[in-house]
Amino acid sequence: MEQEPYDLVVVANRLPLAAETDETGEVRWVRSPGGLVSSLEPALRLKRAVWVGWSGRAASDDDVDVPVPESLGPCALREVPLTARQIELYYEGFANDGLWPLYHDALRESTYSSEQWDAYVAVNERFAATLADIAPPDAIVWIHDYQLQLVPKMLRDQRSDVTIGFFLHIPFPPYELFSRLPWRTEVVDGLLGCDLVGFQRPKDASNFIAAAVELLGVDTDDDTIEYANHPIHVGTFPISIDVRDVEETAAGRATRQRMSQIRARLGDPEVILLGVDRLDYTKGIGLRLKAFAALLESGQLDPERHVLVQVATPTREAVEHYQDERHQVEQLVGAINGRYSRIGLPVVHYLYQTLPFDELIALYRAGDVMLVTPFRDGMNLVAKEYAASHIDGDGVLVLSEFAGAADELTDAVLVNPHDDHALQQAIVTAVEMHRHKRRSRMAGLRDQIHKSDVQGWAHRFLSQLAAGSPASSSD
Ligand code: F6P
Repeated sequence: MEQEPYDLVVVANRLPLAAETDETGEVRWVRSPGGLVSSLEPALRLKRAVWVGWSGRAASDDDVDVPVPESLGPCALREVPLTARQIELYYEGFANDGLWPLYHDALRESTYSSEQWDAYVAVNERFAATLADIAPPDAIVWIHDYQLQLVPKMLRDQRSDVTIGFFLHIPFPPYELFSRLPWRTEVVDGLLGCDLVGFQRPKDASNFIAAAVELLGVDTDDDTIEYANHPIHVGTFPISIDVRDVEETAAGRATRQRMSQIRARLGDPEVILLGVDRLDYTKGIGLRLKAFAALLESGQLDPERHVLVQVATPTREAVEHYQDERHQVEQLVGAINGRYSRIGLPVVHYLYQTLPFDELIALYRAGDVMLVTPFRDGMNLVAKEYAASHIDGDGVLVLSEFAGAADELTDAVLVNPHDDHALQQAIVTAVEMHRHKRRSRMAGLRDQIHKSDVQGWAHRFLSQLAAGSPASSSD
């Protein structure tokens, strides 16, 4: 096939657009869920790139004749079609019921099934074949996330001319956990097909190096692994957001109006506490709700003055752990509202919805206290979006120590979400924080995100990849 002269080939499980079918059966293309897309898409706006990925629908769906748009802005799109069975075994199964819990501190039991593994291999082969086909000679190929860990080696075996980078958006577990994976050696071997492997936090990078040493006996020199006569650089690149985009939206008149409207609709409470998460068991929504309820019960929070808005974005609804989590969260919301709400004034406002970007920014602006309390999170971009939205310089962020963002956002109220007393105390500290202190800590958060936006993140990764020099965590 004829290869277009792309500057960059990007590949992720999902394309930045996903097909959504409305009640009339009409297909619309909407932004795909998750932090990967919301970060990567703005970072590519100035590049002649092609993005290879899945459209979020099954290849056998009736609406498959509605083709994926050819491009999104300057970025060309190239679909890798998946069948319903592949989605079940590779995406819902191996990636999200096997790897996802394992890579997040084994918070839920993983399923390890050979049938799912075979589908993971087959889908990774399919992605690699597409890349081998479309990548121009000597191309730079940037592969993303845990769904595609075998692609680097598969691609290298077919195209020795290309330069291959991989970035893992989620944590890489310590060897004691990773070694549970029946196909642990194959996964590490797959990643070692890269020239550069990037992680969110230094600990993820050192966990990966330890696994490579343990399983494949590789030689290492600082952040470089030597394997099969090929150097693989390993580095830390904490991902970020499009700060300017968030700030511009936050400053808009429509956002300010919507923010006031939201406050009024909530009954003009003294303090709006806010949670915004994909409805994932890693996010700690249940314990957050329990902490809120305990504070209402003890009288440290008052339903007439304090309300909680919890946005829970639907995600991976076919996977049982997610169904269980939704059930538990919704039971808790019902119980808390039943006990503490007044007619017309719920104390928890729960939205199981995907909100448009503008609405989300208005909500961030309306939120006096943002609760980001995951048990484990690669980075957590909600924390960064909240700080970027608060152009008024006010607002408090309560942030889990176990989110990657905690390394940088040290002006947040940091908390161990497993410790219920500490979590309650962190909420009280945030709610009662004096205005002067709030403003000074928010200034610290905003300084930090201005130092590292997503364009800088992509630039650092890609220049490191192009230079082929050892990656460093400091620049
Ligand atoms: O970074 C984690 C991640 O799995 C991304 O790969 C993905 O884009 C996002 O979360 C949302 O998940 P999903 O694609 O399964 O809806």
